[in-house]
Amino acid sequence: MPVDNELYNRLSDTWWDENQVLGGTLRIWLGPVRFGYFQRVLIDKRKMDPQGKRVLDVGCGGGLLAEEFARLGCQVTGIDPSEPSLATARKHAQQSGLDITYQSGVGEHLPFADACFDVVVCCDVLEHVNDVAQVIQEISRVLIPGGIFFYDTINRTLFTKLVHIKIAQEWQSTSFMPPYLHDWKMFIKPQELLLCMQRYHLQNQEMKGMNPRAHPLATIDMFLRRKRGQMTFAEMGKRMNFQESKDLSGSYMGYALKQR
Ligand SMILES: C[S@@+](CC[C@H](N)C(=O)[O-])C[C@H]1O[C@@H](n2cnc3c(N)ncnc32)[C@H](O)[C@@H]1O
Repeated sequence: MPVDNELYNRLSDTWWDENQVLGGTLRIWLGPVRFGYFQRVLIDKRKMDPQGKRVLDVGCGGGLLAEEFARLGCQVTGIDPSEPSLATARKHAQQSGLDITYQSGVGEHLPFADACFDVVVCCDVLEHVNDVAQVIQEISRVLIPGGIFFYDTINRTLFTKLVHIKIAQEWQSTSFMPPYLHDWKMFIKPQELLLCMQRYHLQNQEMKGMNPRAHPLATIDMFLRRKRGQMTFAEMGKRMNFQESKDLSGSYMGYALKQR
């Protein structure tokens, strides 16, 4: 089994729980950095008024990012193959008083007309899909000319092999993430993503790393504490304190514009 995407069905009721792996890593560790960046690009750099903008969240999971864009006033649609995750997303949006459309599907075959979204978001998903090029092609197809594509994913480096796979996932004495959460071979080098986006008329504007402010040794110590049950995912997130950086060797994010 290369990557276990069934996990999103099994853990579907934990998307919003900051002490579980999904809610902890995606909402607490990475959430503020990636959404802070996307919001800044959208409003300050691209001078876009988010009100009423049509946003598609590809691989929306439990709706963590979909809700952030909806709170800005965007008209958001989320799509994901995990039905139980969509059920959680719908319930949470309702509880939050947000009007978001969630629908079942995969990034490789988006059930939408050409050029019908102003913004497409695809975060922590590209390293989980069978056909990255097909997903990028579909994202480009549904974007309007000049539309924005926001992404984040994980680089395929020795660093991520050691940290994301060996330490976090595989080695018995250190692993604190679910087995098969990631497959190193499915991680994507920035240059590969750039070429793929270029092929499908998405012009990349910027790439930024997402890295802990904490010292690497302090971070490893937190991993070990998590392994021993002495530190929660939420506490780790606060202490690691992820930030934007120039270092693309781990997780990285960025945005591209659909060619006019
Ligand atoms: C790590 S989660 C990221 C969820 C969400 N984007 C976020 O960042 O909070 C990966 C998501 O990708 C979804 N996924 C897996 N294969 C997919 C595909 N082929 N197309 C779209 N989504 C997919 C999973 O069901 C899961 O919800």
